[in-house]
Amino acid sequence: MANASAQSETDPRELEFPNLRVLKHPLIQHKLSHMRDAVTSTVRFRQLLHEISLLMGYEITRDLPLTLERITTPLEDMDAPVIAGKKVAVVSILRAGLGMVEGLLDLVPSARQGHIGLYRDPETKKPVEYLIRLPTPGGRMFILADPMLATGNSAVHAVDVLLKNNVPRENIRFMALVAVPEGMRVFNANYPDVPVYAAALDSHLNEHAYIVPGLGDAGDRLFGTK
Ligand code: URA
Repeated sequence: MANASAQSETDPRELEFPNLRVLKHPLIQHKLSHMRDAVTSTVRFRQLLHEISLLMGYEITRDLPLTLERITTPLEDMDAPVIAGKKVAVVSILRAGLGMVEGLLDLVPSARQGHIGLYRDPETKKPVEYLIRLPTPGGRMFILADPMLATGNSAVHAVDVLLKNNVPRENIRFMALVAVPEGMRVFNANYPDVPVYAAALDSHLNEHAYIVPGLGDAGDRLFGTK
């Protein structure tokens, strides 16, 4: 059996993208490998994406600001840290992003939800908008969720949408499952300062704009469509 210890080391390709954080926790890597496997069922794929999203959410929310709140324990009063302000909005890029929402809501049940509906024009490979519904910014951290950062065009478009709706740039995080260098270059040509979290930086895009080795069409695998 091949030794996978390199998984915990920094892949030199990641150094090109200072805003990319590849989360190499063994649980995340293990679950992602099962998601990639073509024989994994729809129900298992959905469950694994849920579990990975929860684990990734723990890292993504690491810099949520805290404030002190006076509470009384059974023994005495204390100033206890609680999350400050309006907390979090989770914005899924339809449709595969929906599979990442519940894991984040398990962590932050009070999070507001938004949706950005985009489809990829088969000719131009560019995103076309068909639905935008967003919570008010109100100082929230906005987590954009889309498992596959492939061409990068949808990711850039989604950040454009948030900025147009007055979400401050510094409040935006992008949560992918698998990214690819071509997509990261497109994203960073526009938003090098927006943090991107992923579980893997894969090899390349093929001629149909699929990530290789990837996991196939995330939406089809999540919803059992073809
Ligand atoms: N979208 C997917 O679902 N899979 C890919 O490989 C690329 C884009």
